[in-house]
Formats: sequence, structure tokens, C-alpha cells
Amino acid sequence: MTHSSPEERSPVLEIIGGHRLSGEVRISGAKNSALVLMAGSLLCSQDCRIRNVPSLADVARMGEVLSALGVKITRSEDALEIDARHLSQSKAPYELVSQLRASFFIIGPLLARLGIARIPLPGGCAIGARPVDLHVRGLQAMGADVQIEHGTVHACIPGVNRRLKGARIYLDYPSVGATETLMMAATLADGETILENAAQEPEVVDLANFCRAMGARIRGAGTNTIVISGVPSLHSVDYAVIPDRVEVGTFLVAGAITQSELSLAPVVPDHLTAVIAKLGAIGSEVIQETPNRLRIVPGASRGTDIETLPYPGFPTDMQAQFMALLTLSEGDSIITETVFENRMGHVAELNRMGADIRTKGNHAVIRGVPFLTGAPVVATDLRASAALVLAGLAARGTTIIQGLHHLDRGYDDLEGKLKLLGAQIRRVKGDAGAESVSSLPVMPRS
Ligand code: UD1
Repeated sequence: MTHSSPEERSPVLEIIGGHRLSGEVRISGAKNSALVLMAGSLLCSQDCRIRNVPSLADVARMGEVLSALGVKITRSEDALEIDARHLSQSKAPYELVSQLRASFFIIGPLLARLGIARIPLPGGCAIGARPVDLHVRGLQAMGADVQIEHGTVHACIPGVNRRLKGARIYLDYPSVGATETLMMAATLADGETILENAAQEPEVVDLANFCRAMGARIRGAGTNTIVISGVPSLHSVDYAVIPDRVEVGTFLVAGAITQSELSLAPVVPDHLTAVIAKLGAIGSEVIQETPNRLRIVPGASRGTDIETLPYPGFPTDMQAQFMALLTLSEGDSIITETVFENRMGHVAELNRMGADIRTKGNHAVIRGVPFLTGAPVVATDLRASAALVLAGLAARGTTIIQGLHHLDRGYDDLEGKLKLLGAQIRRVKGDAGAESVSSLPVMPRS
């Protein structure tokens, strides 16, 4: 009889690598849009319907955060019905916010609706310090009194009418979350807010479009200057989330790394310019078959250099997946991570699979190897787990991935979708997986 700790028994992903994939992938709605639209629904005291919402642990958790605030939320298929009429609670529960950074973004709408918000400092992926100073300074510029005490941000609007005031705010860094927090807060403020050096990510534009569909007055989203003219209230809305560009990118890399042609839809190709350009530099062609469908036609991979940057630069959320691809590309590559200071957790695990990667600070030097070998590995964050799945698909032998809660936070049925393409992938109990790990050699860390 074997004795295993509960951790060992939690499910693992078993991938038998080296198989070609083929077919079509249906892309889900964007995680990062869906989460912030859910936060944005707090601005509205009528019914909100958000469609094309991916089925993810993070979305479920955000739903729990909203419920804890007195909001009614129901899901039917891919749609969320949200009724924030009776939004009553200004304090978000620590147990939930600590697990999901995006839930901190409710501070803007909550403050705008109730004049008070008490939100614990956020959690999320362990990919760096991720402070919230830009959110806080922006809200202060709009007249909020904000204090951080005992790990909780206490914000309130002094005065009788309890409305934020429009302000000119320059963000020291084009933070996605701070842009979204402040844009939401400004929709119900008195007067005009100008956000300078704003984030230009497609999810910011999606949030602006969602708020505009509720009657908000916002222009310039998608550029570095966003202007919001406050309105007294917002009305009900029925809105569909944009496709997930990170899921698209992940499947494009799946095609390139397994040398397989794949077709993906629905997609907004313009959201993927940097990713498509880098795939081209590495040797794979991405063809736009129709306005919302892409096909990847893989070629022999060669190394290239990548630096992550705010949009429209190369996305940090695709860094780990491209690193997996570059481990098998001919020659040397350098990846520089500039957005987060601690986003290299996948390096040690890829090296366990036979990759040759050295890191110094936020730089990784990748020397291409002819093949990877399956190994037991541990996912350290959401995108790192995707990188390990991709490496496992291409590796010789069996890869066992632990730490699936990261994957489940942000990918809507990744293994189901890969299975449909012919991948040998299954979720098994930790023990079963551990028994089936072949005794392939584990390469030392370089
Ligand atoms: C969002 C995305 C995440 C993506 C990231 C960058 C969501 C839910 N998550 O995260 O998937 O990787 O954008 O594209 O949308 N920073 C500060 N002070 C602040 C805010 C941020 O210093 O007040 C720093 C962060 O520590 C980080 C950098 O700015 O180093 C970028 O963070 P930000 O753009 O805010 O990312 P998130 O909104 O957290």
C-alpha cells in the first residue's frame, strides 16, 4: 500500500509527446476582459448581460466576490446575468481577493457607486511584487481619501454628494489594471478625466466599449490618452467579450512546436500583431483565412530575440509559451522580460525536460536543443503551466504536470481542446500519473 500526501493525490496532467496535431480550435472569450467587465458591471444599477464568458476558475472566483457584495449573478452557458441594483457591501472578502488580482479592480466601480470601498491588497499569480500604487494615486487625484491599513485599502469620497471629481492623471507606467480601475471610476465622476500614458491593451478597449454600451462617455481607448466625461448613471447592457488573444497565441505556438497546421477562430488578428511577427521570425507562417480565422503553417524553427512590452509590444502573457518554442529552435535566443520582475518560473522546469536556458535577472538565454524529454514538472504560474503543456506536446515520452490550479485559472478546457486536435493528454489522479512517469533522464539545470 502506498501512502501519499493530499498534494500528491491532486490531479496532474499526463501528456505523451511527439504527436502531430490537426484540426480547428474554437477560441473562448478573453479571461482578462471577462474579469474586468464583471467588475465594470458594478457601475450599473440595472441588469447586465455579459456573453462569451470563458469557463474558468478565475471567473467563478470573481463571481463569488460580486456575490459577497450583494450582487445577484447567474450563469447560463457562456452568459453571465449580473444585477448590481442592490450593491450594498463595500468590503470585499480577503479570502477571495487574495487569490485573484483582478478582483482588486472593483475598487474603482465600488467607490463610484457607493462612495466607499474597502479592498484587501490583491493576490494572483506569483510573478512579482505587483503593487497597486498607480490605482491608489489615481483615485486620490479624483478626490478619494485612500489609506492602506492592515493589508486593506480603505477608500472613501469625502463631502456630501460622494462623487469622484474628474482629474488629469498621468500614469508613470501604462498599467492595464490601473487604467481600467480609473476609467471605471471616472465614468460616474463629476466632470472630465484625462488618463495620460494609459494602457492600450485590447482588454482596455473592450472595457471602454462595454461601459459605452451602458451609456458612459469615453473616447481614446486604445491610444495612450483616454478621456472620460462623467455621467450620472449607466443603464443595462448585453455585451459579448472579445476572443482571448493569449489563448490564440498559445494554440499558435502549439502548432509551431508540434509542426502541425491548425486553424483558429474566432480571432481578432489585429490583437496578435507582435505574436504573429515573432512566429514569422522563428519560421512559421500565420495566414489570415477569413477576417476572424487564422491558420498556422509551421516551418523549421530558428532562434530569435524577444522583449516583452506593454501593448502593442510583445505580451508578457506569451513569454513563457514562446520560451518553450525557442528551446527547440536552431541557434540562440534571448528573452527579456520587462513587465514583471519575477516571471521566469518555467525556466527550471523546461531545463528538467532537457532545455538549455540560462537566466540572469530578467534575461533568459536559450540555446536550442534537438529534442526535449518528458519529465515530471511543476507549474509555477498560469502562463508557465501553458509553456509546460506546449513543451510536453513536443517532448519525447511522458510529461506529468503538477500544479494544475494555475492552468484552470486561465484556460478554458485546454486539455479538451488539445484532445480534439489529436493530442495524447489526460488529467489523472496524482498517484496514477506518478506511476506512469517513464524513467526518462532528467537533464541537469544549466
Ligand atoms: C494585467 C493582466 C495580466 C498581464 C498584465 C500585463 C488582468 C487581470 N491581468 O495585469 O494578465 O500580464 O496586465 O499585460 O488583466 N504596477 C505598478 N503599480 C501599479 C500597477 C502595476 O508598479 O499600481 C506594475 C506591476 O507590478 C507590473 C507592471 O506594472 O510590473 C504591469 O502591471 P499591470 O499592467 O498593472 O498588470 P495587471 O493589470 O496586474
